[in-house]
Amino acid sequence: MIKRNAHLEILLRRLRENPVVGLLGPRQVGKTTLAGQVAARWRGPTRRFDFEDERDLDRLAAPARALEALRGLVILDEVQRRPDIFAALRVLADRRPLPARFLILGSASPDLLKQSSESLAGRISYHELPGFSLAEVGPSAWKRLWLRGGFPRSFLAPGEAASRRWRRDLVKTYLERELPGLDFSVPAGTMRRFWTMLAHAHGQVWNSAEFARSFGVSDKTVRGYLDVLSDTYMARLLRPWHENLSKRQVKSPKAYFRDSGIFHQLSGIEGYAQLQTHPRCGASWEGFAIEQTIQLTGAWDEQCHFWATHQGAELDLLIVRGRGRVGFEFKYGRAPGLTPSMRAALKDLGLDRLWVVHAGDERYSLGARVEAVPLTGLAQALRAPGRGG
Ligand SMILES: Nc1ncnc2c1ncn2[C@@H]1O[C@H](COP(=O)(O)OP(=O)(O)OP(=O)(O)O)[C@@H](O)[C@H]1O
Ligand SMILES: [Mg+2]
Repeated sequence: MIKRNAHLEILLRRLRENPVVGLLGPRQVGKTTLAGQVAARWRGPTRRFDFEDERDLDRLAAPARALEALRGLVILDEVQRRPDIFAALRVLADRRPLPARFLILGSASPDLLKQSSESLAGRISYHELPGFSLAEVGPSAWKRLWLRGGFPRSFLAPGEAASRRWRRDLVKTYLERELPGLDFSVPAGTMRRFWTMLAHAHGQVWNSAEFARSFGVSDKTVRGYLDVLSDTYMARLLRPWHENLSKRQVKSPKAYFRDSGIFHQLSGIEGYAQLQTHPRCGASWEGFAIEQTIQLTGAWDEQCHFWATHQGAELDLLIVRGRGRVGFEFKYGRAPGLTPSMRAALKDLGLDRLWVVHAGDERYSLGARVEAVPLTGLAQALRAPGRGG
């Protein structure tokens, strides 16, 4: 077992502070396993229901009445199958004193479950569970984590071929079972073609028109395909940052695969040697590094942006928290230097700090507020930033 203590502690804390906690993440990322660990640490009675189990569906046919008598911690798994449960939870969450707290698990975002999740506004705290992080598997396993991605069974598979088979099956199940279960009616074959084409556009500014042309549908329809991948935690849409400047800036989001292993699967990249000579190697590493960085900083999706001007200045990741602005550039090289684009980002965006994250081993200063740092050393660097200069 790979320990996921940081997530475990966050969940326990959130459960002390909120009547309902939502643990969300892609299929197979380890939600049920982690919820089991929460239950093991819980002092008092716990009870679990799974909405993919017919018997539990029967037991909770009248959810408010069935759940009312329970005490302690109640875990409700696969809530995306019963979105109406949210309305029942609202009543249960408003009881005082609180006889029970609820940990609900699902693989679809609150946006996708919109009307239903709105009924819990102010009573629920969401936590997203991503794939394994560098901190969890240990920085020395970074190449394996990059190649195979962070789904537990892909990362831990007994060999490369087994890992690929597992990812191939995950993609298939996702297309054939998961999406139809969410009332998403696009045929699996069309979605597979879209997802594969998205691999070519991984890390690029999203261009609806181009996708719409190849699929012979409207811009809005292809954007719907992208949104469902994003709402099920398979894709990440990075928002464009717009600064009040005279320069023209890019206004569309960038699209990334969240998991590098799934990216490799849909790009036909099978092994590490092939990855390193592949034309999309740099894009793959950048996507991997961005996910790891976002996890390390604990930033919310709404705080994460990229920035690009039509004159060519850009910043891969900008994290904005209140008045604080931290920039990240990702370079799949070993000893990057300061570029004119980085200088423009520092000045135009007024960054507090710029991290140039690379695939080498050395950490060094690139000037005032700018440091180059290996991805494997980023956690340490963020805890103790150098003075620069
Ligand atoms: N921390 C871990 N270390 C090792 N293996 C893990 C870990 N977490 C999960 N796994 C394994 O990964 C697989 C998926 O885990 P789990 O069923 O908890 O995921 P899930 O997110 O609930 O999936 P689903 O969305 O399909 O219900 C299981 O085989 C589980 O044993
Ligand atoms: Mg599960």
